[in-house]
Amino acid sequence: MSTADQSSHGTDTGTGTDTDTDTDTGTDTGTDTDTDTDTGTDLVTGAFSHIGSHIARRLLDGGRKVRTLTYHPDREHPLRARVEAFKYDFDDIAELERSLAGITTLYNTYWVRIEHDGTTFDEAVRHSRVLFDAAVRAGVKRIVHVSVSNPSEMSPLPYYSGKARVERALAESGASHAIVRPTLVFGSDREVLVNNIAYLLRKLPVFGVPGDGNYRVQPVHVDDVAEICVDQAATVQNVTVDAAGPETYTFIKLVRLIRDAIGARAVIARVPVPLMSFSARLLGVLLRDVVLTREETDGLMHELLVTQSTPLGRTSFSAWLDESAQTLGGEYANELARHFR
Ligand SMILES: NC(=O)c1ccc[n+]([C@@H]2O[C@H](COP(=O)([O-])OP(=O)(O)OC[C@H]3O[C@@H](n4cnc5c(N)ncnc54)[C@H](OP(=O)(O)O)[C@@H]3O)[C@@H](O)[C@H]2O)c1
Repeated sequence: MSTADQSSHGTDTGTGTDTDTDTDTGTDTGTDTDTDTDTGTDLVTGAFSHIGSHIARRLLDGGRKVRTLTYHPDREHPLRARVEAFKYDFDDIAELERSLAGITTLYNTYWVRIEHDGTTFDEAVRHSRVLFDAAVRAGVKRIVHVSVSNPSEMSPLPYYSGKARVERALAESGASHAIVRPTLVFGSDREVLVNNIAYLLRKLPVFGVPGDGNYRVQPVHVDDVAEICVDQAATVQNVTVDAAGPETYTFIKLVRLIRDAIGARAVIARVPVPLMSFSARLLGVLLRDVVLTREETDGLMHELLVTQSTPLGRTSFSAWLDESAQTLGGEYANELARHFR
């Protein structure tokens, strides 16, 4: 069943945002992954976090050993006992290399969603470069890097230009690599955007969507992203692949679907962007979080969470919604509490 909204929007983001949507065809050959030297151990950054935990679980279930780098090595998590955890320290290169020694594939999910309290995108780009270079020196055979759909160094949005700079740092490291570019990822208990839309629809009488709401999103299930990532470890070429789901919705349709699935009664209102930004800041004060940045709104409205390639994700958002409606948005997912407090 597909209730996807066949919006007639064109492919031009029309914003001055330069999106490098071309994906490599796999002709750029990297270092061969020699199966004889497979150590059976992989490292997933953020294995107790969102996308990383689903990659780690898939690897463990497939019989591989998993290490992680994280800022929260002692976080309570179902995978905690099965994963060897090291703490990120991008200033201690020797320790970083030690944590990467004996690793066949590094799956990298490290990134920051927002700039806050001295944490910046520039710093995250720098850290990513340090991580890739340490992996090469430690003899890691392949790097599978989780990026985002439509990154571009020309983008006026620092999140997207930062992600493009990280992709360049990876290419410049000389590692055999795959870049996986997800759209909007749903389906994890640590997911933020869809969960918090549901939470606010449950709590508020009116839910605002920025602008006309007719810009599109193409959500992809977290297990499909994890599968795409793990598949990319088995190949030897340097490739870039989009990770997008089979259904595309206008944003307002997506919000309506969530509201109807969870049985909320909120009125969905189209709100001018400045008023939306003001309301999001106000909500942020009440929830002690950064609810939605102006930059995230711009990315959404410029359709950066849609791809032009054939979708690799198979899981239907609408079908998942029907199964998850009871619990979705039951609790607020607080970004600042997770990463800054
Ligand atoms: N979530 C989505 O919908 C989505 C969509 C498209 C692309 N992506 C990309 O997918 C990758 C992983 O995203 P995710 O949602 O799975 O991220 P995440 O779970 O929040 O975090 C991934 C890793 O980055 C670390 N990290 C996150 N925020 C940080 C901060 N403020 N300061 C320091 N470290 C921080 C986490 O540390 P801990 O291990 O300590 O938690 C974790 O190791 C990112 O590159 C993101 O751009 C995500």
